[in-house]
Amino acid sequence: MVEAPEKNLALDIVRITESAALASARWLGRGAKEDGDGAAVDAMRVTFGTLHVKGRVIIGEGEKDNAPMLYNGEEVGVGDGPELDVAVDPVEGTSLLAYGRPNAISVIGVCPAGCMYNPGPSFYMQKLVVPREARNAVDLDAPVADNLRAVAGALGKKVQDLVIFVLDKPRHKQLIADIRAAGARIQLHTDGDVAGALMAVDPRSEVDMMMGTGGTPEGVLSACAIKGLGGQILARLDPQSYVEKEHILEAGIDLREVLTVDTLIRSEDCFFAGTGISGGDFLRGVRYTGRHAITHSMVIRGKTGTLRYIESYHNLDRLSKISAVPY
Ligand code: FBP
Repeated sequence: MVEAPEKNLALDIVRITESAALASARWLGRGAKEDGDGAAVDAMRVTFGTLHVKGRVIIGEGEKDNAPMLYNGEEVGVGDGPELDVAVDPVEGTSLLAYGRPNAISVIGVCPAGCMYNPGPSFYMQKLVVPREARNAVDLDAPVADNLRAVAGALGKKVQDLVIFVLDKPRHKQLIADIRAAGARIQLHTDGDVAGALMAVDPRSEVDMMMGTGGTPEGVLSACAIKGLGGQILARLDPQSYVEKEHILEAGIDLREVLTVDTLIRSEDCFFAGTGISGGDFLRGVRYTGRHAITHSMVIRGKTGTLRYIESYHNLDRLSKISAVPY
C-alpha cells in the first residue's frame, strides 16, 4: 500500500524564519546585537502563533526568567495540530549580524514531541560533522590526523585537499595546530557553527568537515538539518566552566556519552528551515528593492531528505497592512 504524504511542516516553518530574518536584517551592521536578536525573537513568536501545531520549545532563548519569549519549555503554535518539540535560534550569529559579517541565519528545527535531545543546563558541545560518504569513517576519540585521513579516504581526496570549518576561538589552539600539522586546510570563522555544519554536509560547499566546540543548542539544530541531508554529527557535552559542569552533573547527564545525529533527533519525521539574514556562503542575505524585501531560505524534510531553496519576494506595503511585525 502506498502511504499518503503527510503535511510538510518545512513549508510552514520557513515562514517563521523568513519573518525573523526580515525583522532582524534591518539591524545589519548597526552594532546592536540585542536589538537585532530582539526583533527576530518578536517576529518569530508572532508568526509561530499562526501555526496549527502544539509545540514546546526545547531549544530556545534560555530559561523563562531571563527570556520573556521563546524560552525553554514555552508552548508555541495555535495548539490544535501535531505535538512537536521545537528548536529555535532566531539569529544564529548575533555578532555576525551586528557587524555585518557573512552567514548570520535564522533557523528552526522541529520533530515529534519527545524526540529531541534536551541539553538541560549544557551550553557547549564538542562536534565533528562530516558528509554522508564519511558518516561511518570517523571517531570522536580518534586523533585529529586519523579523522582527517578517514574523511579524505571516504571522499576520495587527499588530506591536503580538505577544508575544515573551525570556530576561531582560543580553545581551538591545539585543534588548529593539529589540523595544520596534518596538512589539511582550514576556514576560521568567528561565529556561526550551524552554518559550518550545513556547509560540512553540503557537497556543493568547499567545506568538507567541521570540528571543534560550539553551542549545544546549535548542535541540536544542526542535527535536524543533517538528519535530512545525510551525513553525521558526533558530539559530546564539553562544559567550558566549573559551574556549567556541576550543573550538568547535578542534572544526572553523562558527560562521556557520544551523541549522534540519531540520538540528538530520534525521529526521521523532522524538519529544518533556515533563512539568510546577512549574505553568506550558502544563503543570500535579505535584500531590499524599495517595494520588496527578498529572502533566501533552505527547507529540509527528514523523512524524504528533500532539500528546497526558496526565494521569496515580500511586498512590504501590503505586509505592513496585515502584519503585526514591523518589517
Ligand atoms: P550567538 O548567535 O548566540 O551569538 O551564537 C553564535 C555562535 O558562534 C554559535 O554559532 C556557536 O555555536 C557559539 O556561538 C559558540 O559560542 P562562543 O562564542 O561562546 O564560543
